[in-house]
Amino acid sequence: MRLLYPPLPAPRFHPVPEYPTIPRHIAVIMDGNGRWAKERGLPRREGHRAGAEAVREVLDACKELGVDYLTLYAFSSENWNRPEAEVTALMALLDRFLKEKAKDLDAKNIRLQAIGQIDRLPAKTRDLLDSIIARTADHTAMTLVLALSYGAREEIVSAARSLATDAAAGRIDPASVDEAAFASRLQTAGIPDPDLLIRTSGEMRISNFLLWQISYAEIVIVRKNWPDFRHGDLLEAVNEYQRRHRRFGAL
Ligand code: FPP
Repeated sequence: MRLLYPPLPAPRFHPVPEYPTIPRHIAVIMDGNGRWAKERGLPRREGHRAGAEAVREVLDACKELGVDYLTLYAFSSENWNRPEAEVTALMALLDRFLKEKAKDLDAKNIRLQAIGQIDRLPAKTRDLLDSIIARTADHTAMTLVLALSYGAREEIVSAARSLATDAAAGRIDPASVDEAAFASRLQTAGIPDPDLLIRTSGEMRISNFLLWQISYAEIVIVRKNWPDFRHGDLLEAVNEYQRRHRRFGAL
C-alpha cells in the first residue's frame, strides 16, 4: 500500500483490487477558471489559460501516483452557449495543449482518448486530436481522457438509441440488455468507472458529467478554483479518498 503524507490515518478498507488505495480512475470537473480571472481583474480567457497549466501539473501528478485513467471535463455540450470569443479561446487553448503535449504523451507512454460529440469541434482541433489519439493508441502507462463537447445525458440517450436500433433490427434480444450491455454502448466502454471524482471551486454539482459512470465514485469537493489546483491538492484529494469507507451499498 502506498501512503502519501506520513502520518496518514490507515485506510478503513482492505487494499484489494476492487477498492484500490490509489484510485485507478480519477475524473475531474475543472471549475472556477472564470472566477479566478475575475478575482485578478483579468479576462476569462486568462483563467482558462492558467487552467491549462493546472492540467499539465495534475497529469504529471497522476502519472507519478500510478493512476491508470484521468478524465478531464474540458468542454461540456452546454459550453457551446458561451460567448463566441470565449469558445474560440478555449478551442485555441486546446489546440495549443494538444500540439505541445503530443511529444510528451509519447515520451511518457500516455494514451490519449476523447469522449463527447467530437464531430462538433472545429476541423483543425478534431484532426489534431485524431492524430494524437492514433499516435498514442498503444501506450500503456496511463490514459488521459478528454471530455470535449461532452454531455452525459446525450451519451446515455445515444447508448439507448443504439440498443433500441439493434433490438428493432433483431440483432439483439431486448431481454439480454443488462448493465454490462448498456455500459458497452457508452463512449467510456472498456474504461473502469471513476473511483474518485474531484470538483474544484466549491460547487456541489455534477453538471451532466459521467452520470452513469460515477454511481459509486467518492466525491471530493475542493474550494480552490481550478487554476490554483496543484500537485499537493491532488495528493490531498487522494488522501481524502483513502480515508473514505467504500461500501458499494453493502455494510
Ligand atoms: C470551468 O470554469 C472550466 C471550463 C469551462 C473549461 C475548462 C478548460 C480548461 C481547464 C483549459 C483547457 C483544457 C485543456 C485540457 C487544455 P468556468 O469558466 O465555468 O469558471 P467560472 O464558473 O468561475 O465562471
